[in-house]
Amino acid sequence: MEKLINRAAKDLVESKYAIALTGAGMSTESGIPDFRGPKGIWTKQPEAERKAYQTYGKFQANPKEYWEERLSGPSLFGDLGKVAPNPGHYALAELEKMGILKCVITQNIDNLHERAGSKRVLDYHGNAFKLRCVSCNTRYDLEEYDLQKLRDEGRLPPLCKKCGGTVKDDIVHFTEPIPLDIAEESEKEALECDLMLICGTSAVVYPFANLPLMARSRSGTLPSGLYGTGYRTTVKIIELNAEPTPLTHEGVSDYLIQGKTGEILPQIVDEVKRAS
Ligand code: APR
Repeated sequence: MEKLINRAAKDLVESKYAIALTGAGMSTESGIPDFRGPKGIWTKQPEAERKAYQTYGKFQANPKEYWEERLSGPSLFGDLGKVAPNPGHYALAELEKMGILKCVITQNIDNLHERAGSKRVLDYHGNAFKLRCVSCNTRYDLEEYDLQKLRDEGRLPPLCKKCGGTVKDDIVHFTEPIPLDIAEESEKEALECDLMLICGTSAVVYPFANLPLMARSRSGTLPSGLYGTGYRTTVKIIELNAEPTPLTHEGVSDYLIQGKTGEILPQIVDEVKRAS
């Protein structure tokens, strides 16, 4: 493990444009269950996953009813206001402060990367503390709308202050398209990076799981004799995860550091500091 931590630190120090891709495994040490790990939400409640596939269709069919249901029941993730970033989130924020990490693309909706101080975060599956207009894609902070008041006055769904369109939670549900701005920026990062640190994801949900494949497909050998084209031939893809994933088995990642992100990432940052 130590050898791999030193190897990852060296790869990060030598990188020109490192990005991190994260999943629910980043937040289990903050007390938020993941989905497919041994104690995952879907592992323990398969019915909940089947229901989750219907959520977006329900919104499309009847936004008012969707909102009334959403405001009446508890969140799947518990009270996200009561959790805090863990050392793994802070470690990624520190790598950004050191100018090594350029961006975090996260599947997590818990806002913990932002709260840990990461500045450039792409919330690939949305953010539980934001709302989004489905017509003009304008995003609002949750507190910009008094949702309970709207409900009490029978004025759901919330309407966009800019275009009057229907506003939903920013969370991207199964079968809902990834908002175009986030999808485009994420693909740009995947094509631009020369190091991709993939932390705490089972890498089975698309299109997010395409991003490592896009980065990998870019690498290849320079046509013989062609130098100085600025084309990076190799992208380093490093996985940090409690268990191997399809990216490991299919050789998309160069290596897997198996363990807890909250323990491994701070050790990598310490090594980076020693090596810089
Ligand atoms: N450190 C490292 N890895 C961990 C840790 C940890 N502390 N805790 C859990 N893991 C691993 C699990 O073993 C699993 O392989 O993190 C991975 C989490 O995978 P999932 O539970 O599938 O979560 P994720 O990959 O983020 O799911 C993607 O699925 O349901 C949708 O929208 C939801 O964004 C989510 C998407």
